[in-house]
Amino acid sequence: MSDIQRPVVRPRRLRTTAAMRDLVAETTLQPGQLILPMFVREGASEPTPISTMPGVVQHTRDSLRKAAAEAAEAGLRGVMLFGVPETKDASGSGAIDPDGILNVAIADVVAEVGDELVVMSDLCLDEFTDHGHCGVLDARGRVDNDATLEQYAAMAVVQAAAGAGLVGPSGMMDGQVAVIREALDAADHTDVGILAYSAKYASAFYGPFREAVDSALQGDRRTYQQDGRNARESVREVLLDIEQGADIVMVKPALAYLDVLRRVADAAADFGVPVAAYNISGEYAMVEAAAANGWIEREAAILETLTSIRRAGADMILTYWAVEAAGLLRH
Ligand code: PBG
Repeated sequence: MSDIQRPVVRPRRLRTTAAMRDLVAETTLQPGQLILPMFVREGASEPTPISTMPGVVQHTRDSLRKAAAEAAEAGLRGVMLFGVPETKDASGSGAIDPDGILNVAIADVVAEVGDELVVMSDLCLDEFTDHGHCGVLDARGRVDNDATLEQYAAMAVVQAAAGAGLVGPSGMMDGQVAVIREALDAADHTDVGILAYSAKYASAFYGPFREAVDSALQGDRRTYQQDGRNARESVREVLLDIEQGADIVMVKPALAYLDVLRRVADAAADFGVPVAAYNISGEYAMVEAAAANGWIEREAAILETLTSIRRAGADMILTYWAVEAAGLLRH
């Protein structure tokens, strides 16, 4: 003992008790920062489990309403809705039909929860197209950016009319935020905001989601979603979306892109624009699978995952664990 140099500065002092650790914690995680993504399937009479995402279901219209009420009860402040239509076609017409599954589901949920929750809707064609792409195709089979924008504009107006509080364009078409803002304003939906999936990467971690929405996709989305080798272009995408009127910008996926999330959060802060991150299906599935095997402690892994996303700069997180995590945070 006598020969060693005793440290004067001891960071461990601030870790001595739970109270001390709480007192100096830099990052908060609260139910109101969590948003639950939900799937609703047209024509379903029973909720259908999604095998790749244990614990997540494709809802019926009825079970969706109930689950949204539970989400509000748990202290969440938002849900994000995805529709799974019975039939798909080349232009994704079900997305624009006011009687299409997503649009009726928006109205159902708004009728159920009113202003208790911000009702958000995925604004993308991939669930509705028979080729599974996020846009319409040109004669050569390529995703046609500008023709897709027309569909998105119509989709935004229908979703707003159904009662969406925030529309979430997730198709990564150039100029989508500007076109949607203009369409919403022209239809007098000036209060409806845009949660822009601004920095969205082509990712293997979307795998389980493709089952969740019965995706018809062949091939990949690499001509419109970003290349995982690039971080700078995320800042460019975010600045473009802010310029075009995005109210909130999002980074997706979250875990493999926490560095991107930090850069985006720093850039968006200069404009006072809040940042969301999407803790996606593959990130959920990895933890669930490992926990089911007894390889990790499930609840601790969930909270550590969500905390890391907050620490990297997300103001809010879309996560399939939202309701459960809200419960864990209250205890
Ligand atoms: C596209 C969309 C996707 C997800 C949300 N919106 C899939 C994709 O781009 O292929 C993925 C969500 C997840 O994996 O949890 N509409």
